[in-house]
Amino acid sequence: MIERYIKFLGIDDTIKLLKANEKPLNPSIRVNTLKISGAELKKRLEQKGFELEPIDWVPYAFKIIKETYNLGSTHEFLQGYYYLQNIASMLPSIILDPNPNDIVIDMCAAPGSKATHLAQLMKNQGTLILIDRNRNRIPALETNLRRMGIINSIVLNMDAKDISKLNIKADKILLDAPCTGEGLIRQDPTRKRSKRLRDIEKMSKIQKLLLRVGLKVLKPGGKLLYSTCSIAPEENEIVLNDILQDESDFSIIKINNQYGINGLTRFFENALLEEIKLSQRLYPHLHDTIGFFLCLIKRKN
Ligand SMILES: C[S@@+](CC[C@H](N)C(=O)[O-])C[C@H]1O[C@@H](n2cnc3c(N)ncnc32)[C@H](O)[C@@H]1O
Repeated sequence: MIERYIKFLGIDDTIKLLKANEKPLNPSIRVNTLKISGAELKKRLEQKGFELEPIDWVPYAFKIIKETYNLGSTHEFLQGYYYLQNIASMLPSIILDPNPNDIVIDMCAAPGSKATHLAQLMKNQGTLILIDRNRNRIPALETNLRRMGIINSIVLNMDAKDISKLNIKADKILLDAPCTGEGLIRQDPTRKRSKRLRDIEKMSKIQKLLLRVGLKVLKPGGKLLYSTCSIAPEENEIVLNDILQDESDFSIIKINNQYGINGLTRFFENALLEEIKLSQRLYPHLHDTIGFFLCLIKRKN
């Protein structure tokens, strides 16, 4: 894995990345503005001894600088006033920017970090269809929806590859694809050794399949946000390149804010579609986040 990093990052950045992966990540929370304001929650948590710092990218989220006790066991947590979520994982829903009138599909929704965020941005209105194939992950999704007070969603335990059978066209689709989780080493050091190249290749096939079927159920003018918590090009740029090169109805569009650095347009000897530079990569050593990838795609007609 390290040899691969050196090939696409260079030796200096690889060393910085490996060092940054050893640095623990501060916990962060997303305030559930359906139930409480950021200012009110901050006041309540500070009264309990927590120290919170604002996050530039998300006005209703905080970094936790001092945790007096477990953030998952406060009254405020149990009442659904906040969701424990790392900062990078808050970006997909913000970038997709769903409206209260939209039909939105989250193709890989469990346990619901981004789904509950989508519902929050939709002001608990419109239609939010939440799909996940893994039956064992559905209870956690439902618990989170209930805790956060989400009432605009439908949960479907099915394989998203069959999405067209639903006969629904969506305004917005989130494909937070299953991945090797290579970018999560900072949160979970066991991932340093648990993934091999063959895992990346296997996930890449699934990601391409899900992206292809997801694009087919977008309305004209609709948008799909593709994200992974992996930094492997095979799970990101290569997926986009292989699917979009045969699709003239779709284009990658610029993300309003520059959160990370541009996506790769070259991988080893291969030149990729130029528009892939509009996607963004987040790295622990550059952005103090987990490793993450984001790409916004629009259907032209
Ligand atoms: C990266 S996790 C999603 C995390 C979730 N979006 C969140 O923010 O909480 C990927 C999810 O995809 C689901 N999954 C994997 N293959 C799938 C498929 N073919 N169809 C639907 N869901 C799938 C997994 O069960 C897993 O819950």
